[in-house]
Amino acid sequence: MSKQTLTITDNRTGQSAELPIEHDTIPAIGLRQLKVQADDFGMLAYDPGYTNTASCKSRITFVDGDRGILRYRGYPIEQLAEESTFLEVAYLLLFGELPTAGELSDWTARILSHTQIHENLVDLLKTFQAGAHPMGVLISAVAAMSTLYPEAKQVNDVDNRLLQIWRILGQLPTALAFADQNRLGRPRTDPRAGLDYSANFLHMMGLTRQADGEVDPVLVRAMDVLFMLHADHEQNCSTSALRNIASSEADPYCAVAGAAAALYGPLHGGANEAVLRMLAEIGDTKEIPAFLDRVKNREVRLMGFGHRVYKNYDPRAQIIKRVAYEVFAVTGSNPLIDIAVELEQHALEDDYFVSRRLYPNVDFYSGIIYQAMGFPVEMFPALFVLGRTPGWLAQWVELVTDPEQRIARPRQIYLGEAERAYVPIGERG
Ligand code: SDX
Repeated sequence: MSKQTLTITDNRTGQSAELPIEHDTIPAIGLRQLKVQADDFGMLAYDPGYTNTASCKSRITFVDGDRGILRYRGYPIEQLAEESTFLEVAYLLLFGELPTAGELSDWTARILSHTQIHENLVDLLKTFQAGAHPMGVLISAVAAMSTLYPEAKQVNDVDNRLLQIWRILGQLPTALAFADQNRLGRPRTDPRAGLDYSANFLHMMGLTRQADGEVDPVLVRAMDVLFMLHADHEQNCSTSALRNIASSEADPYCAVAGAAAALYGPLHGGANEAVLRMLAEIGDTKEIPAFLDRVKNREVRLMGFGHRVYKNYDPRAQIIKRVAYEVFAVTGSNPLIDIAVELEQHALEDDYFVSRRLYPNVDFYSGIIYQAMGFPVEMFPALFVLGRTPGWLAQWVELVTDPEQRIARPRQIYLGEAERAYVPIGERG
């Protein structure tokens, strides 16, 4: 049996270090023994963007970027999207197993009993100006919830954690829907008993059928599948941000608000909004070649394409593409889909994208569906937040219960000035 160690030799000194290999990784702290001078700090690993650094051990989500695999607690995303529901997936992510019928019924009842938001929060939502971006409102609302539930700071109390999880999952859709109603100057539509999670959200958003004012079951299912597809994705930018915040034992509301702030960027969850604006800017399929030339000239990015992990097709994109046509059967097709499909085809045949292993990601088609369902473009990243929240909460619980985790505090390579004396202002050049 070969030795499960890595021996590194520092050629500056001839010193070598033998580091244990566990799960195909080495403990970075082991590099610190490599020094030139005895009083040196010791060697660090430099990894901007953490492209090759494992920050934690996790049992929640498995992604294989080369094989296009995504599994939640071992269950393939394709099967969950076909067979499961968003709240069942939320339970699976948080507790590690699919619930029994009784467990799911109790879990659902708990969350749906927390859909009303505090009047203090309603008042806060009313203070935002009409054109306020839903992400700025939602991030503020989630952080504000920490002032309403100060007991949430007891992050090591199991029952307290669960209560906050019910509140966050239950109240975020309501807060987002109220924010949109305020933005449009419409009266609030309260949550309605008897509707499930996604149906209630569409109901509060006013996305109901003209004929009978009810939500369409095809759109409800599409919303539920889209939430499931966004529910978790291992240590992405926003989840890493959440773990950093939670590592200081901040409460879950502030951790989720910080994660949502990270997700807002156009390189991450803001991409779905950017894709819609890109497709609208292209405007016509005959403009695609000229647009792709601009991408290849690095004037713009092909939003919704590329991924740090998936170097083949993002499995979620394939499922979303199927959901799109199911939604269009109800809403009527969205003309942007034709541009998107042809844009994808051009890119998949263009060596610039193929050589860089750039394929459609989860954001490429999701925005087209959201628009067809009637959501305003600005709302798209906030829909990603609603979907990702159970994953963030599962990662939060895993972090606070992980004995190996410590407060996040990376090191740096200092390239600044050496020590220098203060110069009185009168003597400065
Ligand atoms: C999400 O991490 C996750 O799991 C995220 C996510 C999740 O579920 O949480 O999957 C959700 O955020 C999906 C990604 C959504 N973002 C976009 O669609 C924005 C467009 N894509 C990118 O900007 C980019 O692809 C990233 C940010 C997604 C990934 O960036 P990387 O891994 O740092 O890749 P890179 O920027 O180093 O690019 C490598 C090469 C470069 O070319 P060269 O300089 O080597 O010649 O590919 C090029 C880049 O210029 N490139 C693109 C491109 N993405 C990468 N060129 C044109 N268009 C793009 N979209």
